[in-house]
Amino acid sequence: MLNVLKHPLLTHKLAILRRKETGTKDFRETLEEIAGLMAYEITRDLPVKNITIETPLGKCKTQELAIDVVLVPVLRAGLGMVDGISNLIPTARVGHIGMYRDHVTLVPMTYYSKFPDNLPDAIVMVLDPMLATGGSSTAAIQILKDHGAKSIKLVCVVGAPEGVNRIMKDHPDVQIYLAGLDDKLNDNGYIVPGLGDAGDRIFGTK
Ligand code: PRP
Ligand code: URA
Repeated sequence: MLNVLKHPLLTHKLAILRRKETGTKDFRETLEEIAGLMAYEITRDLPVKNITIETPLGKCKTQELAIDVVLVPVLRAGLGMVDGISNLIPTARVGHIGMYRDHVTLVPMTYYSKFPDNLPDAIVMVLDPMLATGGSSTAAIQILKDHGAKSIKLVCVVGAPEGVNRIMKDHPDVQIYLAGLDDKLNDNGYIVPGLGDAGDRIFGTK
């Protein structure tokens, strides 16, 4: 299912990411902020359990998170979303999937993966700012399922209809979250209007 998150701060910050004049420092900082804002919305339905604690003045019945969260950035660009979410969920463990799109075929090539051992019991958030053809995200989700992940949320910043449709077809059990749903892909598989090459803009490689 697709969830396009709506919030004035998200819209404002997404405009900063999209601007071609935005430099590496501001791009990186704003992406981190967007990831945090998205996580705040996405985690609304996380299960909690009742606990009793002692405050300095007495007993307090309250609640705490009842499930582990695992963050899985898709390298490189997904790395730019990790700190914004782990600032809010400091107990989250972090796995990694290394993947790049072949520039001609647009087929994702996987070069690395490493996951914590609580994957099967955790809420797993796949992080990648861009959902273009959907090839990278669908492959990343399949790798996670092959490693036992059962509850997966795909967190992207900008998506194209092609990518959304691909995920809904390949992984109908996965919730998709976007801050912006754009018009289309261009002939090179880039999202239009999009924000350009996320990895290059985060790491200053172009
Ligand atoms: C980008 C982006 C996604 C992928 C999206 O990564 O971060 O992973 O492309 O495209 P898709 O939906 O068509 O698969 P890229 O392959 O450029 O690698 P990089 O992050 O290392 O630059
Ligand atoms: N990857 C990006 O970084 N940007 C796009 O628009 C598509 C894929």
